[in-house]
Amino acid sequence: MTEKKNPCACACAAGHDPSRRSMMAGALALAALAPLAGSRDASAQEGGARSTKPEPGDKLAFMMGDRKDKEITPADLVVGGEPTLAYPMDPATGKVLSSRANLLTVVRLKPEAIGEKSKPNAAEGVVAFSAMCTHYGCPITTLHPTGTQIVCNCHGSVFDAANRGVVTTGPATRRLAMLPLEIKDGAIVVAGKFDGPLGPPQ
Ligand code: FES
Repeated sequence: MTEKKNPCACACAAGHDPSRRSMMAGALALAALAPLAGSRDASAQEGGARSTKPEPGDKLAFMMGDRKDKEITPADLVVGGEPTLAYPMDPATGKVLSSRANLLTVVRLKPEAIGEKSKPNAAEGVVAFSAMCTHYGCPITTLHPTGTQIVCNCHGSVFDAANRGVVTTGPATRRLAMLPLEIKDGAIVVAGKFDGPLGPPQ
């Protein structure tokens, strides 16, 4: 088996001139990667009462910023706003499930803009995807000018947030996994498992 080559020398380790955006995306990628081992250990110490992956009923928490680890409400997300990076949060304990595999990119779209196949996974226009780009794993952080697509700034892959995260512009070739959401008692909650594989093909 031949190993996939990664030609870039910038922070995301992937093959382009390191612009400010891509440098920021690379830093975010490293930040998302760091907690992976710690979150597994913590879960094991707690007796493994739950999976370290998102589970139905989990809420969403901000990954960073002034409200880091605080719950994201529908009012926090506006149509046309930049994607919000988030982690699932156990509602019983308040524990944020911070790991690279759990990092989400969340956007709010006009409900009427969401395709039929994505509608069952959307909650009042809010949709969530794995934030790990399926090219080389950088986080998806930017809204495309179309307002319904989201962009990985490392190499410009574009994914359709209104249509199951399918690739509209490469170099990525695999769609983003979508995490089903619903609104319960006014809160955004996880409604199921990721609907596909996470990150780059192995
Ligand atoms: S990591 Fe290359 S386009 Fe996202």
